[in-house]
Amino acid sequence: MCGIVGYIGNKEAGKVLLDGIKRLEYRGYDSSGIACIENGTLRYEKAIGEVVELEHKLNTNPIIANMGIVHTRWATHGAPTVENAHPHMDCRCEIAVVHNGIIENYDYLTSYLEQRGHIFKSQTDTEVLAHLIEENLTDNLEEAVMSAVKMIEGTYGIAVISTKDPGKIVAARKGSPLIIGIGDNEYFITSDVSATLEHTRNVIYLDDLEVAIITPDNYETKTIENITSLKKIEEVLWNMDMIEKSGFQHFMLKEIHEQPQALQNLMRGRVDGGKAPIKLGGLSHCEKDLLAVKRIVVIACGTSWHAGLVGEYMLEELARIPVEVEYASEFRYRNPIIEKDTLVMAISQSGETADTLAAMREAKNKGAKVLAICNVVGSSIAREADAGIYLHIGPEIGVASTKAFTAQVAAFYLFALHILLLRHKTDPKVPEMITAINSIPGKIQKILDREEEIREMADAYKDKNHALYLGRGFNYPVALEGALKLKEISYIHAQGYPAAEMKHGPIALIDENMPVIVIATKDATYGKILNNIEEVKSRKGRVIAIATEGDEQIQGKADHVVYIPDAPAVLTPLLSVIPLQLLAYHMAVMRGCNVDKPRNLAKSVTVE
Ligand code: AGP
Repeated sequence: MCGIVGYIGNKEAGKVLLDGIKRLEYRGYDSSGIACIENGTLRYEKAIGEVVELEHKLNTNPIIANMGIVHTRWATHGAPTVENAHPHMDCRCEIAVVHNGIIENYDYLTSYLEQRGHIFKSQTDTEVLAHLIEENLTDNLEEAVMSAVKMIEGTYGIAVISTKDPGKIVAARKGSPLIIGIGDNEYFITSDVSATLEHTRNVIYLDDLEVAIITPDNYETKTIENITSLKKIEEVLWNMDMIEKSGFQHFMLKEIHEQPQALQNLMRGRVDGGKAPIKLGGLSHCEKDLLAVKRIVVIACGTSWHAGLVGEYMLEELARIPVEVEYASEFRYRNPIIEKDTLVMAISQSGETADTLAAMREAKNKGAKVLAICNVVGSSIAREADAGIYLHIGPEIGVASTKAFTAQVAAFYLFALHILLLRHKTDPKVPEMITAINSIPGKIQKILDREEEIREMADAYKDKNHALYLGRGFNYPVALEGALKLKEISYIHAQGYPAAEMKHGPIALIDENMPVIVIATKDATYGKILNNIEEVKSRKGRVIAIATEGDEQIQGKADHVVYIPDAPAVLTPLLSVIPLQLLAYHMAVMRGCNVDKPRNLAKSVTVE
């Protein structure tokens, strides 16, 4: 899950490439590198750490060229060192390659190439690509790239330049995202549109086993069999403001505060309480399939998996359809049972998560219809699904997902009501349920307005190294999500559990140093959750309770109480998660963590 950018045009390539790759740093930020052709010679620079380190190196010796490629890395093979940073070159330093993905048969290819006299300088899988292209290159770079990638097993999004066929950049993809930006007499290669948005909104999404060749005055797309492929130019709907911090200290905080607006964007044109209360245009062509669905399997990873768990509770409660939620990586290799009336739902903010993409392809191979809930338009999962719901919440740049979670949960709610109405035409409860979700953005804003309270609470717990999160029913997945947020950005070891499960083991962890965050909103299990709080208190645990406004009873039982507005139990996850996002955020900031680029993580995990 690295980021790559290529540029060819009449602008000064160094600046265009550095500005572009900085926008992709959320994809990986342990080292970076750049290459271009200056006066017929291949020039490259590499640096460890964030892109700003590479920029420092170039400030003293800037790039003088109108074309080049650049890379920011999330190490998979070989530690983050200068040697292992991209680009990787061939033996004669005439070819430079940047790569996003994993070459699974690189061991075999390395020994095959070493037997043919190639000398390797790094511990990476990627370097085999440079030597394979060298093996095949006479004077046509794209043909050499096509021959080389045919020997690759695994995933790749690559960009290549060579002094033996200068004046062009050749790109190819299989499994990793790759986009061509079509500008005014300039062209871009990128892993994600945010790197080229300031130059153009006209893009082409490459499909698997396709190659792109960009030159100063043209672009071409072909299959790796060298057959021309005609591609549609699509317009990106995002704008620059959406990828700026707009005055917030971090993208994560900006995105937490964007949630009221994000939910309104998700619901616009879909929920209007009138005759056909729920309109999901992306599903209109498969209503017959949806009516026949007998079982739903949700596949996802990380935060999207937690949203899937809330979705399970919603679909079973509102649409009365049995649902299973699977870790995509396990579903992929478990030979899952798929019947003809099984619907598979793939949940992914980025739409590029390799585990979810592979699981989705597995489900399709088994004959399942796949419905995707995605945020990134034109992403692989969105394009390969049979139907889908886009979140329309704008780019999510903070590595820790926040607004995507609440939007995914709200999308599940709309989908459940859609299925309910498809099957029963009307339901007396629906108008009330529509009113309820329309009130959520305002209620989230009320919680955001109390951020200072939560920041003070964070200050009281910032030095703890462990935490437990407990919830019941709809709030159990929120407890998991709260724990994941704290883990991801503050590196505090945190675990989420169904509250009743605590007595079966985790209670052994509780003492005066263990903060226990309990989601204790007023619902059918309120009495039970109060008992769980008593159990924690009787072992000197410190309790932070997320409670419903007006609940005085809980005041005397918890050490800290964060009140959230009342809402139907089915919608409470959209409110109870907000204080947990803010708590994790402020604890991480107070611990001096890099909130937007937490260590060892990357925004979209494009390798299995
Ligand atoms: C969440 O904060 C993490 N960034 C991670 O768990 C993420 O949810 C997971 O990688 C799935 O990503 P996706 O939604 O883009 O598929």
